[in-house]
Amino acid sequence: TTLFILNGPNLNLLGTREPEIYGTTTLAEIEAACIAKAREHGLRVDFRQTNHEGTLVDWLHEAHAGGAKAVIINAAAYTHTSIALLDAAKAITPPVIEVHLSDPQTRADFRHRSFIGQAADQCFKGKGLASYLEAIDAAAAL
Ligand code: DQA
Repeated sequence: TTLFILNGPNLNLLGTREPEIYGTTTLAEIEAACIAKAREHGLRVDFRQTNHEGTLVDWLHEAHAGGAKAVIINAAAYTHTSIALLDAAKAITPPVIEVHLSDPQTRADFRHRSFIGQAADQCFKGKGLASYLEAIDAAAAL
């Protein structure tokens, strides 16, 4: 079985992007750690990043059509803006788990609202790479 791990806008720049907030771990390093963690649970990972909202919608549909075990998603800034992602998350069968590197609740007000969070079963945030790894453990336990 496959876990989809989807990453939204600007996460391709991790490593150099606002390191005081997001750390210096690159997205490639996060991907490698996620693949290793999922393998412990006998799960395969489909790890992707896009800067485009509609592409994330398409990928949620793809996870549904392909019978993914779960979708772990860091929707990045679209977390706080995208009703399309919320609707897609509601429309699909695989459970959705929200992740963030930082803790948006402790940041600016406009980051406090999560649309996709309204359709997510669980949320792991504020722990950097560990947010992703804890989400994989939670997905494996579903
Ligand atoms: C983020 C938090 C969002 O508020 C922000 O727009 C991001 C990254 C995180 O992982 O901490 O791009 O999702």
